[in-house]
Amino acid sequence: MLIKSARFAVSSPEVKNCPKPVFPEYAFIGRSNVGKSSLINMLVQQKGMAKTSSTPGKTQLINHFLVNENWYLVDLPGYGFSKTGKDKAAGFGKMISDYILQRENLMNLFVLIDSRLPMQKADESFFLWLGENQVPFSIVFTKADKSGRSTLNTNLANYRKKLLDYWEELPLVYITSVTTQTGRDELLNSIEEMNKNFKPY
Ligand code: GTP
Ligand code: MG
Repeated sequence: MLIKSARFAVSSPEVKNCPKPVFPEYAFIGRSNVGKSSLINMLVQQKGMAKTSSTPGKTQLINHFLVNENWYLVDLPGYGFSKTGKDKAAGFGKMISDYILQRENLMNLFVLIDSRLPMQKADESFFLWLGENQVPFSIVFTKADKSGRSTLNTNLANYRKKLLDYWEELPLVYITSVTTQTGRDELLNSIEEMNKNFKPY
């Protein structure tokens, strides 16, 4: 898919403040600092559209970006990190869970995982919560430029094994790097396909 335009639309503290659900949308979630905002910028080829930071906890609201005037990318706050220590056991709050469970035009959730690390507790609880709530998701491994091939393969195999304890089928998996642009075409192509299945309300 060709990106002709992309711009920030709105930041919302709650799902009820989000834009009217007239376009298909794709949300990016994962532990703080995993690279959600950077990946969104890489997809649209605009370095500063979504705010990034080397310190975890940068994204705090539900951020909508309008792409090609007819679909949304959504940047969510990270889980597994809390400045206030008020997070629930699963590591994410009501803003995120309400958004995921109530947003009717959410076509797919991309769960970002740092390709350098074995499965972290926060990720495991998040996957279980998605399973319990039957939320469709794909897995996006990030920072592939920083993980050696053998680490990447070991971690991938480990994820497959753990996920198969809970799911009969594995979700789609993407390997990405914002530095080398790896995975960009694959992600955009799959979004293009899913866009075709959107039925406006
Ligand atoms: P929060 O909003 O705090 O939850 O973080 P985030 O998941 O949005 O992460 P962000 O995009 O802000 O990136 C965190 C750090 O990782 C930044 O310093 C990025 O430059 C770096 N980073 C993100 N993606 C990549 C990548 O593919 N390769 C490398 N080498 N660094 C990356
Ligand atoms: Mg962010």
